[in-house]
Amino acid sequence: MNIHTPPSPPRPLEDAFGRRISYLRLSVTDRCDLRCTYCMKARPEFLPKSEVLSLEELTELAQAFIRRGVTKIRITGGEPLVRRDVVTLIENLGQEIGQSGLEELCLTSNATQMPLYAERIAAAGVKRVNISLDTLNPRRFAELTRTGQLSRTLDGIAAAKAAGLAIKINTVAMKGDNEHEIEDLISWAHAEGFDITLIEVMPVGEVETHRSNQFLPLSVVREQLETRWTLKDLPDSTGGPSRYARIAETGGRIGFITPLTQNFCAGCNRVRLTCTGKLHLCLGREGALDLRAALREGGPGAVDALLDQAMNIKPEAHDFSVAPGSQPSVARSMAETGG
Ligand code: 5AD
Ligand code: SF4
Repeated sequence: MNIHTPPSPPRPLEDAFGRRISYLRLSVTDRCDLRCTYCMKARPEFLPKSEVLSLEELTELAQAFIRRGVTKIRITGGEPLVRRDVVTLIENLGQEIGQSGLEELCLTSNATQMPLYAERIAAAGVKRVNISLDTLNPRRFAELTRTGQLSRTLDGIAAAKAAGLAIKINTVAMKGDNEHEIEDLISWAHAEGFDITLIEVMPVGEVETHRSNQFLPLSVVREQLETRWTLKDLPDSTGGPSRYARIAETGGRIGFITPLTQNFCAGCNRVRLTCTGKLHLCLGREGALDLRAALREGGPGAVDALLDQAMNIKPEAHDFSVAPGSQPSVARSMAETGG
């Protein structure tokens, strides 16, 4: 008689508020070739390379999440493509699509390195990339990114498109800087066949100016857009913080990420892992668990135990504020946490 029952499948990740965690944002580096003014200081201090997980360790941790029910992984940074050999990681995780529980692997990038890697990324099974672009004006692009050149980013976007990747443009809406250009960006993106998502500046990390000088509420932007175009709300399909609408006149989709004017936390399905193995449970809260120590000192069992602990302490919501005089909600920048 067979008295052995098969091992029960690992428990899917679910937090104390009943939210299923199915989405991992995996930051592979905090470094970037650009220095966007809302993201970094002009001379950021990057993490010492000795602190950073190897690509093998990142793969192993990603697989631990997949075993616990993560179905979507986004590779982020910093700029993920400035990390040497990162495409190997993308290829390795790409092989999991449809084999394990992984359904989707995607990427956020500033596109500067896309001419080099777009083909391999597409061949690895990535279908969609989010590309950050805040202006189409070369001079403003140079100012906003401090080190960038618009033509290189546009070449990268063209390479991604040519490789067959679906593209979503991410645009951070900033008072003064690009607020009068948003309609042009939307028209351009939709003519290219791209989705575009507008993002409110979030008070994460210290930059040279106070956030209240950059913050532009998207409610104001949307009102402005509606004087020119017809926006029809679309049902939320991503489970994420973005609310989508279709613009009748362009036929394209536009998303709004409004962490400050509209709290999106109730449906949160994600966690973030930094390149040093810190697991952040909320973009807008301090506190993280050390998966690097768990992996190196305890192995897969310890990683699993820490994931259980994580589910118990994931906060219900962020507490962002950009009021004049307020401090950044969290000290670490988006590039460190993984946007
Ligand atoms: N607020 C809002 N968006 C930010 N990003 C980086 N820093 C911030 C911030 N402080 C954006 C990038 C990228 C996305 C991952 O996050 O432009 O599009
Ligand atoms: Fe780099 Fe993205 Fe930060 Fe700009 S916003 S500096 S592209 S990580």
